Amino acid sequence: MRIDILTVLPELLESPFGHSIIKRGQDKGLVEIHVHNIRDFSEDKHRRTDDYAFSGGAGMVMTIQPIESAINFLKAQREYDEVIYTSPDGVHLNQKVANNLSLANNIIILCGHYKGIDQRIREHMVTMEISIGDYVLTGGELAAAVIVDSVVRLIPGVLSDETSALTDSFQDNLLSPPVYTRPADYKGWKVPEILLSGNDKKINEYQEQQAYDRTRRLRPDLLK
Ligand code: ADE
Repeated sequence: MRIDILTVLPELLESPFGHSIIKRGQDKGLVEIHVHNIRDFSEDKHRRTDDYAFSGGAGMVMTIQPIESAINFLKAQREYDEVIYTSPDGVHLNQKVANNLSLANNIIILCGHYKGIDQRIREHMVTMEISIGDYVLTGGELAAAVIVDSVVRLIPGVLSDETSALTDSFQDNLLSPPVYTRPADYKGWKVPEILLSGNDKKINEYQEQQAYDRTRRLRPDLLK
């Protein structure tokens, strides 16, 4: 899979993909993540990428030209499954959206900034808008990082234990059961006896029951 991210603040995305599992996915050749500075595509003599809104009011709007040039530059090299715009207006990111995106070959993620992008880009070039929640961020970069993280870990081979993505919270509409590690007794805080029993069948049943109970208590909406 290849992910191209378009941003006016590439510095914001230097760290999130350079560590741990997402880095390993790239090192193994399972995913390529390329961050592009939209400013590099600006034909303005000051390399501007924003302008005043025709509607007036505070806040700048990202202009069409640099974004259109950047997207067309990428599209000339390969086909893209989606051109995603990060926006509070978009569909909410959830495990199903992440699962679907993990099947794509190539995606572009366009990060919004300021007051947003010129609506015509959304109408003519964007194929999908994704929100990471009902709150407003200063820009789309952190949303892009969240989307990439949730998608890349689902690509087969990225997680070392292939089964671990399958037991994630939400993967079957259930929250994950609690987990414990050594010591079995920390100053009197004890691990549930059954997990120490060595009986795999009993442990699985217990874990399933815990997942169900937890979901019913914390996120009953998931069980509907
Ligand atoms: N840009 C600003 N706020 C956002 C949000 N909640 N989700 C995605 N992109 C955003």
